[in-house]
Amino acid sequence: MPIFHISHFLNLNFKIKMGISNKVYGVVMMIVYCGLFVVSYSLFETGETRLTLDYYAKTCPNVLQIVRKEMECAVLSEPRNAALVVRLHFHDCFVQGCDGSVLLDDTITLQGEKKASNNIHSLKGFRIIDRIKNSIESECPGIVSCADILTIAARDAVILVGGPYWDVPLGRKDSTSASYELANTNLPSANEGLLSIISKFLYQGLSVTDMVALSGAHTIGMARCENFRQRIYGDFDATSDPNNPISRSYIEKLRSICPLVGKTGENNITAMDNMTPELFDSSYFQMLMRGEGVLNSDQELYSSLLGIETKALVKKYAADPIAFFQQFSDSMVKLGNITNSDSFVNGEVRKNCRFINT
Ligand code: HEM
Ligand SMILES: *[C@@H]1O[C@H](CO)[C@@H](O)[C@H](O)[C@H]1NC(C)=O
Ligand SMILES: *[C@@H]1O[C@H](CO)[C@@H](O)[C@H](O)[C@H]1NC(C)=O
Repeated sequence: MPIFHISHFLNLNFKIKMGISNKVYGVVMMIVYCGLFVVSYSLFETGETRLTLDYYAKTCPNVLQIVRKEMECAVLSEPRNAALVVRLHFHDCFVQGCDGSVLLDDTITLQGEKKASNNIHSLKGFRIIDRIKNSIESECPGIVSCADILTIAARDAVILVGGPYWDVPLGRKDSTSASYELANTNLPSANEGLLSIISKFLYQGLSVTDMVALSGAHTIGMARCENFRQRIYGDFDATSDPNNPISRSYIEKLRSICPLVGKTGENNITAMDNMTPELFDSSYFQMLMRGEGVLNSDQELYSSLLGIETKALVKKYAADPIAFFQQFSDSMVKLGNITNSDSFVNGEVRKNCRFINT
Protein backbone atom coordinates (compact mmCIF):
# COMPACT_ATOMS: atom_id res chain seq x y z
CA MET A 1 0.00 0.00 0.00
CA PRO A 2 2.71 2.56 0.82
CA ILE A 3 4.25 1.68 -2.54
CA PHE A 4 1.02 2.56 -4.23
CA HIS A 5 1.00 5.90 -2.45
CA ILE A 6 4.56 6.70 -3.47
CA SER A 7 3.88 6.13 -7.15
CA HIS A 8 0.70 8.13 -6.82
CA PHE A 9 2.63 11.05 -5.41
CA LEU A 10 5.37 10.68 -8.00
CA ASN A 11 2.77 11.24 -10.68
CA LEU A 12 1.66 14.32 -8.82
CA ASN A 13 5.26 15.49 -8.82
CA PHE A 14 5.51 15.25 -12.55
CA LYS A 15 2.60 17.64 -12.71
CA ILE A 16 4.25 20.02 -10.23
CA LYS A 17 7.48 19.79 -12.22
CA MET A 18 5.96 21.52 -15.23
CA GLY A 19 5.66 24.83 -13.37
CA ILE A 20 8.85 24.99 -11.30
CA SER A 21 12.59 24.78 -11.74
CA ASN A 22 14.49 21.54 -11.44
CA LYS A 23 16.11 22.56 -8.18
CA VAL A 24 12.84 23.37 -6.44
CA TYR A 25 11.38 20.23 -7.90
CA GLY A 26 14.20 18.22 -6.38
CA VAL A 27 13.52 19.61 -2.90
CA VAL A 28 9.76 19.08 -3.17
CA MET A 29 10.48 15.60 -4.42
CA MET A 30 12.72 14.88 -1.43
CA ILE A 31 10.15 16.10 1.08
CA VAL A 32 7.32 14.18 -0.51
CA TYR A 33 9.39 11.07 -0.95
CA CYS A 34 11.06 11.13 2.47
CA GLY A 35 7.88 12.15 4.22
CA LEU A 36 6.22 9.14 2.71
CA PHE A 37 9.16 7.00 3.58
CA VAL A 38 8.74 7.96 7.24
CA VAL A 39 5.03 7.25 7.06
CA SER A 40 5.50 3.84 5.54
CA TYR A 41 8.37 3.13 7.92
CA SER A 42 6.26 3.85 10.98
CA LEU A 43 3.44 1.82 9.48
CA PHE A 44 5.86 -1.05 9.29
CA GLU A 45 7.29 -0.49 12.77
CA THR A 46 4.00 -0.32 14.67
CA GLY A 47 2.29 -2.88 12.52
CA GLU A 48 -0.52 -0.41 12.25
CA THR A 49 -3.25 -1.66 10.04
CA ARG A 50 -5.81 0.05 7.92
CA LEU A 51 -8.74 -2.27 8.12
CA THR A 52 -11.97 -0.60 7.08
CA LEU A 53 -15.59 -1.63 6.84
CA ASP A 54 -16.01 -0.51 3.23
CA TYR A 55 -12.75 -1.91 1.86
CA TYR A 56 -14.45 -3.80 -1.01
CA ALA A 57 -17.41 -1.42 -1.47
CA LYS A 58 -16.25 -0.40 -4.94
CA THR A 59 -14.18 -3.40 -6.00
CA CYS A 60 -16.43 -6.27 -4.89
CA PRO A 61 -19.70 -4.88 -3.57
CA ASN A 62 -21.36 -8.30 -3.19
CA VAL A 63 -18.60 -9.95 -1.20
CA LEU A 64 -20.59 -10.09 2.03
CA GLN A 65 -23.64 -11.59 0.35
CA ILE A 66 -21.56 -14.24 -1.41
CA VAL A 67 -19.86 -15.34 1.80
CA ARG A 68 -23.19 -15.37 3.65
CA LYS A 69 -24.89 -17.49 1.02
CA GLU A 70 -22.08 -20.05 0.95
CA MET A 71 -21.95 -20.20 4.74
CA GLU A 72 -25.71 -20.68 4.90
CA CYS A 73 -25.40 -23.73 2.65
CA ALA A 74 -22.45 -25.07 4.61
CA VAL A 75 -24.02 -24.69 8.06
CA LEU A 76 -27.45 -25.87 6.93
CA SER A 77 -25.95 -29.07 5.55
CA GLU A 78 -23.80 -29.60 8.66
CA PRO A 79 -23.98 -27.35 11.74
CA ARG A 80 -20.48 -28.31 12.85
CA ASN A 81 -19.15 -26.47 9.80
CA ALA A 82 -19.78 -23.27 11.75
CA ALA A 83 -17.38 -24.43 14.45
CA LEU A 84 -14.75 -25.52 11.94
CA VAL A 85 -14.63 -22.09 10.32
CA VAL A 86 -14.54 -20.15 13.61
CA ARG A 87 -11.61 -22.23 14.82
CA LEU A 88 -9.79 -21.87 11.49
CA HIS A 89 -9.95 -18.10 11.83
CA PHE A 90 -8.59 -18.26 15.39
CA HIS A 91 -5.71 -20.51 14.36
CA ASP A 92 -4.97 -18.22 11.41
CA CYS A 93 -4.79 -15.07 13.53
CA PHE A 94 -2.53 -16.51 16.25
CA VAL A 95 0.17 -17.36 13.72
CA GLN A 96 1.69 -14.37 11.86
CA GLY A 97 -1.58 -12.49 12.29
CA CYS A 98 -4.75 -12.98 10.25
CA ASP A 99 -3.10 -13.50 6.90
CA GLY A 100 -4.50 -16.77 5.60
CA SER A 101 -1.26 -18.58 6.49
CA VAL A 102 -3.20 -21.46 8.03
CA LEU A 103 -4.85 -22.17 4.67
CA LEU A 104 -1.60 -22.92 2.83
CA ASP A 105 -0.93 -26.52 1.86
CA ASP A 106 2.52 -28.06 2.27
CA THR A 107 4.55 -27.91 -0.95
CA ILE A 108 8.17 -28.72 -1.80
CA THR A 109 9.18 -25.14 -1.07
CA LEU A 110 6.74 -24.24 1.68
CA GLN A 111 6.06 -25.90 5.01
CA GLY A 112 2.51 -25.11 6.02
CA GLU A 113 0.86 -24.99 9.44
CA LYS A 114 -1.60 -27.82 8.94
CA LYS A 115 0.67 -30.46 10.46
CA ALA A 116 1.55 -28.42 13.57
CA SER A 117 0.68 -30.17 16.83
CA ASN A 118 -2.58 -28.34 17.53
CA ASN A 119 -3.75 -28.54 13.92
CA ILE A 120 -2.94 -32.01 12.69
CA HIS A 121 -5.92 -34.41 12.48
CA SER A 122 -7.91 -31.60 14.02
CA LEU A 123 -8.24 -28.49 11.90
CA LYS A 124 -10.89 -28.84 9.22
CA GLY A 125 -13.13 -26.72 7.03
CA PHE A 126 -10.63 -25.85 4.33
CA ARG A 127 -12.98 -26.95 1.56
CA ILE A 128 -15.63 -24.54 2.80
CA ILE A 129 -13.17 -21.68 2.34
CA ASP A 130 -12.16 -23.01 -1.09
CA ARG A 131 -15.80 -23.00 -2.16
CA ILE A 132 -16.38 -19.43 -0.98
CA LYS A 133 -13.15 -18.32 -2.65
CA ASN A 134 -14.25 -19.87 -5.96
CA SER A 135 -17.57 -18.04 -5.89
CA ILE A 136 -15.86 -14.75 -5.11
CA GLU A 137 -13.18 -15.21 -7.76
CA SER A 138 -15.82 -15.73 -10.41
CA GLU A 139 -17.45 -12.43 -9.49
CA CYS A 140 -14.42 -10.27 -8.59
CA PRO A 141 -11.19 -12.04 -9.58
CA GLY A 142 -8.04 -11.17 -7.66
CA ILE A 143 -9.70 -8.72 -5.28
CA VAL A 144 -10.67 -10.35 -1.98
CA SER A 145 -7.98 -11.92 0.21
CA CYS A 146 -8.42 -15.37 1.70
CA ALA A 147 -7.70 -13.86 5.12
CA ASP A 148 -10.68 -11.52 4.73
CA ILE A 149 -12.89 -14.32 3.42
CA LEU A 150 -12.07 -16.40 6.48
CA THR A 151 -12.80 -13.47 8.80
CA ILE A 152 -16.20 -12.78 7.23
CA ALA A 153 -17.02 -16.50 7.14
CA ALA A 154 -16.27 -16.83 10.86
CA ARG A 155 -18.62 -13.96 11.65
CA ASP A 156 -21.36 -15.51 9.52
CA ALA A 157 -20.77 -18.92 11.10
CA VAL A 158 -21.48 -17.44 14.53
CA ILE A 159 -24.67 -15.74 13.38
CA LEU A 160 -25.94 -18.87 11.66
CA VAL A 161 -25.82 -20.89 14.87
CA GLY A 162 -27.57 -18.20 16.91
CA GLY A 163 -24.69 -15.98 17.98
CA PRO A 164 -24.18 -12.23 17.77
CA TYR A 165 -23.60 -10.06 14.70
CA TRP A 166 -20.70 -7.64 14.38
CA ASP A 167 -19.31 -5.54 11.54
CA VAL A 168 -16.13 -6.99 10.06
CA PRO A 169 -13.24 -4.60 9.30
CA LEU A 170 -11.55 -5.65 6.05
CA GLY A 171 -8.39 -5.13 4.03
CA ARG A 172 -6.12 -7.97 5.14
CA LYS A 173 -3.58 -9.37 2.71
CA ASP A 174 -2.61 -13.00 2.30
CA SER A 175 0.85 -14.05 3.41
CA THR A 176 3.40 -15.52 1.06
CA SER A 177 4.68 -17.66 3.91
CA ALA A 178 3.48 -19.81 6.78
CA SER A 179 5.07 -20.78 10.07
CA TYR A 180 4.97 -24.34 11.29
CA GLU A 181 7.14 -23.26 14.26
CA LEU A 182 4.86 -20.42 15.36
CA ALA A 183 1.83 -22.67 14.92
CA ASN A 184 3.47 -25.05 17.40
CA THR A 185 4.38 -22.36 19.92
CA ASN A 186 1.59 -19.74 19.71
CA LEU A 187 -1.52 -21.90 19.75
CA PRO A 188 -2.89 -22.94 23.14
CA SER A 189 -3.61 -26.59 23.87
CA ALA A 190 -6.08 -28.46 26.01
CA ASN A 191 -3.76 -29.52 28.79
CA GLU A 192 -1.80 -26.33 29.05
CA GLY A 193 -1.94 -24.33 32.30
CA LEU A 194 -4.15 -21.27 32.65
CA LEU A 195 -1.29 -18.81 33.09
CA SER A 196 0.50 -20.11 30.03
CA ILE A 197 -2.67 -19.75 27.95
CA ILE A 198 -3.27 -16.25 29.30
CA SER A 199 0.26 -15.27 28.34
CA LYS A 200 -0.31 -16.50 24.79
CA PHE A 201 -3.35 -14.22 24.51
CA LEU A 202 -1.52 -11.26 26.07
CA TYR A 203 1.28 -11.80 23.56
CA GLN A 204 -1.28 -11.29 20.78
CA GLY A 205 -2.60 -8.13 22.41
CA LEU A 206 -5.68 -9.85 23.81
CA SER A 207 -6.73 -9.47 27.44
CA VAL A 208 -7.90 -12.01 30.01
CA THR A 209 -11.43 -10.82 29.27
CA ASP A 210 -10.91 -11.46 25.56
CA MET A 211 -9.56 -14.90 26.37
CA VAL A 212 -12.54 -15.92 28.49
CA ALA A 213 -15.10 -14.50 26.06
CA LEU A 214 -13.43 -16.09 23.03
CA SER A 215 -13.22 -19.44 24.81
CA GLY A 216 -17.02 -19.20 24.71
CA ALA A 217 -16.65 -20.32 21.08
CA HIS A 218 -16.52 -23.80 22.62
CA THR A 219 -20.28 -23.47 22.97
CA ILE A 220 -20.22 -25.05 19.51
CA GLY A 221 -18.07 -27.78 18.02
CA MET A 222 -16.39 -30.99 19.04
CA ALA A 223 -13.23 -32.17 20.75
CA ARG A 224 -11.36 -35.39 20.15
CA CYS A 225 -10.68 -37.96 22.83
CA GLU A 226 -6.93 -37.34 22.88
CA ASN A 227 -7.69 -33.77 23.96
CA PHE A 228 -10.07 -34.61 26.81
CA ARG A 229 -8.80 -37.94 28.13
CA GLN A 230 -6.60 -36.32 30.81
CA ARG A 231 -9.55 -34.30 31.96
CA ILE A 232 -12.13 -37.09 32.24
CA TYR A 233 -9.76 -39.45 34.06
CA GLY A 234 -8.24 -36.54 35.97
CA ASP A 235 -10.06 -33.96 38.05
CA PHE A 236 -13.52 -34.25 36.48
CA ASP A 237 -14.82 -36.08 39.54
CA ALA A 238 -13.35 -33.41 41.81
CA THR A 239 -14.83 -30.43 39.97
CA SER A 240 -18.29 -31.89 39.25
CA ASP A 241 -21.02 -32.97 41.66
CA PRO A 242 -20.64 -36.69 42.52
CA ASN A 243 -24.19 -36.83 43.88
CA ASN A 244 -25.81 -35.58 40.72
CA PRO A 245 -27.00 -38.54 38.60
CA ILE A 246 -27.04 -36.45 35.42
CA SER A 247 -23.45 -35.50 35.98
CA ARG A 248 -22.57 -39.17 36.70
CA SER A 249 -24.16 -40.43 33.52
CA TYR A 250 -22.44 -37.68 31.56
CA ILE A 251 -18.97 -38.63 32.75
CA GLU A 252 -19.73 -42.29 32.10
CA LYS A 253 -20.70 -41.42 28.56
CA LEU A 254 -17.49 -39.44 28.04
CA ARG A 255 -15.41 -42.34 29.38
CA SER A 256 -17.09 -44.81 27.06
CA ILE A 257 -16.38 -42.55 24.09
CA CYS A 258 -12.78 -42.19 25.22
CA PRO A 259 -11.44 -45.27 27.00
CA LEU A 260 -8.47 -44.94 29.32
CA VAL A 261 -6.66 -48.03 28.19
CA GLY A 262 -5.65 -49.28 24.81
CA LYS A 263 -5.17 -45.83 23.28
CA THR A 264 -8.22 -46.55 21.18
CA GLY A 265 -10.79 -44.04 20.09
CA GLU A 266 -8.26 -41.20 19.81
CA ASN A 267 -10.42 -39.59 17.18
CA ASN A 268 -13.75 -40.27 18.85
CA ILE A 269 -15.43 -36.93 19.39
CA THR A 270 -17.78 -35.25 21.82
CA ALA A 271 -19.41 -31.82 21.97
CA MET A 272 -17.71 -29.30 24.26
CA ASP A 273 -21.18 -27.98 25.15
CA ASN A 274 -23.30 -31.04 25.87
CA MET A 275 -26.45 -29.00 26.55
CA THR A 276 -26.85 -27.21 23.21
CA PRO A 277 -23.93 -28.33 21.02
CA GLU A 278 -25.21 -26.71 17.85
CA LEU A 279 -26.31 -23.43 19.38
CA PHE A 280 -24.17 -20.40 20.14
CA ASP A 281 -25.27 -19.50 23.67
CA SER A 282 -24.04 -19.16 27.25
CA SER A 283 -24.46 -22.80 28.21
CA TYR A 284 -20.72 -23.46 27.87
CA PHE A 285 -20.16 -21.14 30.83
CA GLN A 286 -22.98 -22.82 32.77
CA MET A 287 -21.27 -26.18 32.21
CA LEU A 288 -18.05 -24.78 33.63
CA MET A 289 -19.95 -23.63 36.73
CA ARG A 290 -21.22 -27.18 37.21
CA GLY A 291 -17.61 -28.37 36.92
CA GLU A 292 -18.37 -30.31 33.75
CA GLY A 293 -16.03 -28.67 31.26
CA VAL A 294 -14.73 -31.14 28.68
CA LEU A 295 -11.20 -29.78 28.28
CA ASN A 296 -8.82 -29.08 31.16
CA SER A 297 -8.27 -25.63 29.65
CA ASP A 298 -12.03 -24.97 29.75
CA GLN A 299 -12.56 -26.04 33.35
CA GLU A 300 -9.50 -24.11 34.57
CA LEU A 301 -11.22 -20.86 33.64
CA TYR A 302 -13.61 -21.53 36.50
CA SER A 303 -11.79 -23.91 38.83
CA SER A 304 -8.15 -22.88 38.80
CA LEU A 305 -6.93 -21.35 42.05
CA LEU A 306 -5.03 -18.89 39.86
CA GLY A 307 -8.16 -17.90 38.00
CA ILE A 308 -9.94 -15.42 40.26
CA GLU A 309 -10.55 -13.01 37.40
CA THR A 310 -11.47 -15.72 34.90
CA LYS A 311 -13.90 -17.32 37.37
CA ALA A 312 -15.71 -14.01 37.84
CA LEU A 313 -16.01 -13.65 34.05
CA VAL A 314 -17.34 -17.19 33.64
CA LYS A 315 -20.03 -16.43 36.23
CA LYS A 316 -20.89 -13.18 34.51
CA TYR A 317 -21.24 -14.72 31.03
CA ALA A 318 -23.18 -17.72 32.39
CA ALA A 319 -25.72 -15.38 33.94
CA ASP A 320 -25.80 -12.71 31.25
CA PRO A 321 -25.85 -13.95 27.64
CA ILE A 322 -26.12 -10.39 26.34
CA ALA A 323 -22.90 -9.40 28.12
CA PHE A 324 -21.26 -12.52 26.64
CA PHE A 325 -22.47 -11.70 23.12
CA GLN A 326 -21.30 -8.10 23.41
CA GLN A 327 -17.85 -9.06 24.66
CA PHE A 328 -17.52 -11.91 22.18
CA SER A 329 -18.24 -9.52 19.29
CA ASP A 330 -15.70 -6.98 20.51
CA SER A 331 -13.10 -9.66 21.14
CA MET A 332 -13.62 -11.21 17.69
CA VAL A 333 -12.93 -7.82 16.11
CA LYS A 334 -9.74 -7.62 18.18
CA LEU A 335 -8.79 -11.16 17.18
CA GLY A 336 -9.35 -10.27 13.52
CA ASN A 337 -7.27 -7.14 13.97
CA ILE A 338 -4.09 -9.06 14.72
CA THR A 339 -2.13 -8.29 11.62
CA ASN A 340 1.39 -8.75 10.59
CA SER A 341 3.14 -5.79 9.07
CA ASP A 342 5.02 -8.01 6.65
CA SER A 343 1.86 -9.45 5.10
CA PHE A 344 0.42 -5.97 5.05
CA VAL A 345 3.29 -4.58 3.01
CA ASN A 346 4.36 -7.63 1.01
CA GLY A 347 1.19 -9.67 1.07
CA GLU A 348 -0.97 -10.56 -1.88
CA VAL A 349 -4.47 -11.65 -2.79
CA ARG A 350 -4.10 -15.34 -3.44
CA LYS A 351 -5.93 -16.84 -6.41
CA ASN A 352 -6.18 -20.16 -4.58
CA CYS A 353 -6.19 -20.03 -0.78
CA ARG A 354 -4.02 -23.15 -0.58
CA PHE A 355 -1.08 -21.81 -2.62
CA ILE A 356 0.81 -18.56 -2.92
CA ASN A 357 0.60 -16.90 -6.33
CA THR A 358 3.43 -17.78 -8.69
C1 HEM B 1 -8.33 -20.52 25.25
C2 HEM B 1 -7.58 -21.42 24.68
C3 HEM B 1 -8.09 -22.50 23.78
C4 HEM B 1 -7.74 -23.81 23.82
C5 HEM B 1 -6.75 -24.44 24.77
C6 HEM B 1 -8.50 -24.47 22.80
C7 HEM B 1 -8.39 -25.83 22.52
C8 HEM B 1 -9.23 -26.50 21.69
C9 HEM B 1 -9.22 -27.92 21.51
C10 HEM B 1 -8.24 -28.88 22.17
C11 HEM B 1 -10.22 -28.23 20.67
C12 HEM B 1 -10.59 -29.62 20.17
C13 HEM B 1 -9.80 -29.94 18.94
C14 HEM B 1 -9.79 -31.41 18.61
O1 HEM B 1 -9.95 -32.22 19.53
O2 HEM B 1 -9.61 -31.76 17.44
C15 HEM B 1 -10.87 -27.01 20.30
C16 HEM B 1 -11.94 -26.91 19.46
C17 HEM B 1 -12.52 -25.73 19.08
N1 HEM B 1 -12.07 -24.48 19.39
FE1 HEM B 1 -10.72 -24.01 20.80
N2 HEM B 1 -9.28 -23.57 22.15
C18 HEM B 1 -9.07 -22.34 22.71
C19 HEM B 1 -9.63 -21.15 22.30
C20 HEM B 1 -10.48 -21.04 21.23
C21 HEM B 1 -10.88 -19.79 20.63
C22 HEM B 1 -10.34 -18.43 21.05
C23 HEM B 1 -11.74 -20.09 19.63
C24 HEM B 1 -12.44 -19.17 18.67
C25 HEM B 1 -12.75 -17.93 18.92
C26 HEM B 1 -11.91 -21.51 19.62
C27 HEM B 1 -12.77 -22.21 18.82
C28 HEM B 1 -12.90 -23.58 18.80
C29 HEM B 1 -13.96 -24.28 18.11
C30 HEM B 1 -15.12 -23.63 17.38
C31 HEM B 1 -13.71 -25.63 18.27
C32 HEM B 1 -14.52 -26.80 17.70
C33 HEM B 1 -13.94 -27.22 16.37
C34 HEM B 1 -14.54 -28.49 15.81
O3 HEM B 1 -15.73 -28.74 15.95
O4 HEM B 1 -13.78 -29.22 15.17
N3 HEM B 1 -11.11 -22.06 20.59
N4 HEM B 1 -10.24 -25.96 20.93
C1 LIG C 1 -6.42 -2.49 15.36
O1 LIG C 1 -5.01 -2.44 15.43
C2 LIG C 1 -4.44 -1.16 15.30
C3 LIG C 1 -2.95 -1.29 15.45
O2 LIG C 1 -2.45 -2.42 14.87
C4 LIG C 1 -4.98 -0.22 16.35
O3 LIG C 1 -4.51 1.08 16.10
C5 LIG C 1 -6.50 -0.24 16.34
O4 LIG C 1 -6.98 0.53 17.41
C6 LIG C 1 -7.01 -1.65 16.46
N1 LIG C 1 -8.45 -1.66 16.39
C7 LIG C 1 -9.19 -2.41 17.19
C8 LIG C 1 -10.66 -2.32 16.99
O5 LIG C 1 -8.72 -3.10 18.08
C1 LIG D 1 -15.81 -44.56 20.18
O1 LIG D 1 -16.99 -44.23 20.87
C2 LIG D 1 -18.01 -45.20 20.80
C3 LIG D 1 -19.19 -44.66 21.52
O2 LIG D 1 -19.62 -43.47 20.99
C4 LIG D 1 -17.55 -46.48 21.41
O3 LIG D 1 -18.55 -47.46 21.27
C5 LIG D 1 -16.30 -46.95 20.73
O4 LIG D 1 -15.81 -48.07 21.42
C6 LIG D 1 -15.27 -45.84 20.74
N1 LIG D 1 -14.16 -46.25 19.92
C7 LIG D 1 -13.09 -46.75 20.42
C8 LIG D 1 -12.06 -47.17 19.45
O5 LIG D 1 -12.92 -46.85 21.62
